[in-house]
Amino acid sequence: MSEPRDTSSISFTALYTGHVWTRDGISAPFFRTRGGAFLYGALAPFEYVGRHIVGGNIRTFLLQRHHLIDHRLHQLIESGVSQVVEIACGLSPRGHRFCQQYPQLTYIETDLPDMARRKQQLLKEHQVLSDRHRVMPINIFAEDGELSLDHVLGQLDQSKPVVVITEGLVNYFPLPVISEFWKTLATALKAFPQGTYLTDNYPLYRGMPFYRTLKVLGNMLGAVSRSQVGFHFHADDEAINHFKQLGFDDLKIHNPANYYDQLPIPETRGNPMVRIMEAYKGS
Ligand SMILES: C[S@@+](CC[C@H](N)C(=O)[O-])C[C@H]1O[C@@H](n2cnc3c(N)ncnc32)[C@H](O)[C@@H]1O
Repeated sequence: MSEPRDTSSISFTALYTGHVWTRDGISAPFFRTRGGAFLYGALAPFEYVGRHIVGGNIRTFLLQRHHLIDHRLHQLIESGVSQVVEIACGLSPRGHRFCQQYPQLTYIETDLPDMARRKQQLLKEHQVLSDRHRVMPINIFAEDGELSLDHVLGQLDQSKPVVVITEGLVNYFPLPVISEFWKTLATALKAFPQGTYLTDNYPLYRGMPFYRTLKVLGNMLGAVSRSQVGFHFHADDEAINHFKQLGFDDLKIHNPANYYDQLPIPETRGNPMVRIMEAYKGS
């Protein structure tokens, strides 16, 4: 068994996003961490400039992506899905919120071992873990063994549909690297009658007003998280063809701007930076 790629230098970013969720009231207060509060404070001046000069900041696109993933997940659950795996869950409150709201739901939260341990401990302390709400370690680059995607999906009822989520993960890797994971996922989802994959993505559409801002933000994030932040796809068709080549049957791309009248999300001046991609695999 080969050792999977070590990408734990990215994990601290989950403290920052975790703090955004608590600040915005979509998370329980126990997800608040000192590290998150510190990072949030440190970025406040940039956030101010972003909001007032560029017309959108990090907080804006984080909230857009989080609410939009929630919205699609609610709709999928209402249409009959009862199993969810959230990969790279960090300190996201989604598993906790959805399990409280839907008693029929099985929800497995997963992250690298250290972050998974931290999340597990937090949920245990607050007595919100149960047989149907669990935390497991994973490494999306593990080909086999306890940390592999197959092992996590093997915990579920494979006669029922499943939703897999990654939020705040795919842009930390160049396209060929994250595509290895997407291909493994498309293959693994064949075991289920239906598999839906929801992820955020920051595309670089040519002529986009934020083109340069995104490049600068990406370089900064790549430096602090010691990763190769990448922007995937220059056009929707490119993304759709790519996912089909990797083995998915279909890909829909949701633009937050089309949801301003339905969701409590901040609006961006101009075209938003983030998209939610929804890939589908039938058996
Ligand atoms: C920006 S945080 C996002 C956390 C959470 N999804 C949110 O939106 O608040 C990125 C997360 O990816 C996790 N991560 C990094 N590399 C990973 C890998 N190879 N496999 C699984 N998770 C990974 C980190 O530990 C971290 O929790």
